[in-house]
Amino acid sequence: MVTDDLLRWRAEFPILDTCTYLVSHSLGAMPRRTAAYLQQFADTWSNRGVRAWHEGWWEVGRETGNILAPILGAAPDTISMHQNVTVAQGIVASCFTYEGSRRKIVMSDLEFPSNHYLFEGFSRYGAEIVYVPSTDPIRLDLQRFIDAIDERTVLVPLSLVLFRSAFITDIRAVVEKAHRVGAHVVVDAYQGAGAVPMDLAGWEADFAVGGSVKWLCGGPGAGYLYVRPDLADRLRPAFIGWAAHESPFEFATGAVRYAANPERFQSGTPNVPSLYSARAGYEIVAEIGVPAIRQRSLALTRRLLDAASAAGFRLNTPTADDERGGSVVIDVPNGQTVADQLIARGIVIDYRPNAGIRIAPHFYNTEAEIDHAMETLRNLVIG
Ligand SMILES: Cc1ncc(COP(=O)(O)O)c(C=O)c1O
Repeated sequence: MVTDDLLRWRAEFPILDTCTYLVSHSLGAMPRRTAAYLQQFADTWSNRGVRAWHEGWWEVGRETGNILAPILGAAPDTISMHQNVTVAQGIVASCFTYEGSRRKIVMSDLEFPSNHYLFEGFSRYGAEIVYVPSTDPIRLDLQRFIDAIDERTVLVPLSLVLFRSAFITDIRAVVEKAHRVGAHVVVDAYQGAGAVPMDLAGWEADFAVGGSVKWLCGGPGAGYLYVRPDLADRLRPAFIGWAAHESPFEFATGAVRYAANPERFQSGTPNVPSLYSARAGYEIVAEIGVPAIRQRSLALTRRLLDAASAAGFRLNTPTADDERGGSVVIDVPNGQTVADQLIARGIVIDYRPNAGIRIAPHFYNTEAEIDHAMETLRNLVIG
């Protein structure tokens, strides 16, 4: 049975023995194997010293991106690794100019805040930021969003799964409109990757960014940037460094001669320990397969929704399966205090203002954990 196969993975995640861990939309559990990979990094540094660069470290970004590629529905050699989403978005933004008539950046008001902060910064170079409001705080107003994309639009950064409500956006429909008017779509896949099946190539997304902290169980410092392969070689990112040079060890000065995709989008020295630590989570997610993870996730989030509805709690998550990512957001009075009380009882979740308590089961969670969390929540709120 699929569930039994998945539950066998519990032994690989030590934290599951110590608490009810339901916070994988924030920080996925660390695989046991990660410690071995980090030890391998330390041993290589210790025993091989500077020779490590030419014995694997220099290529570790491309190699890590290639383990990730099938999870995102991307071809090999299309992903470069960076510190985080913000850095990756900065590299994307630096591929364009904001001087002519095409200078609009269209975003939803429901976007993750740092996407707003980063692109706002480009208004000093002429970018015109357009926020599309949503009357419903849970859902993107898709038609209104699509209507805002026009011939003056250069970029459309958009989350695949909204961080506050877990609503899944229709990337394909947005790409379709953007391409019709010559704009580029930047998918922020962070809240989707590893939990929701993705097809970046099939969606014809121009760019995708994300990190490894959440559903990918890869830890911090391993952000990624996907660039559509037929677009990549035409782009000239400004925010790059020596690792983006076609022959970095020539140490040629002056203007860069760009490497091919994906190194073309690199900055400097790769974030080697983070890339070692990301590997185990990617391998496990790829081995299980996102469709199997999704099937389990839908069953567990449905159980959460049913328990929340039975208790009369307000839900700030879509109840339709095809609209909902991996988390469930439950709005209760004094949410922050209740969240703290749950955490004090060993039920690890989180709270976001204007949203509620976010609960996120992953493939390693059980029905019993869901029931325990919901019973405790009910007792805390209702008594
Ligand atoms: C959708 C989304 N984008 C971006 C981020 C932040 O990314 P980073 O810290 O890698 O810049 C988060 C973090 O929670 C997120 O949920």
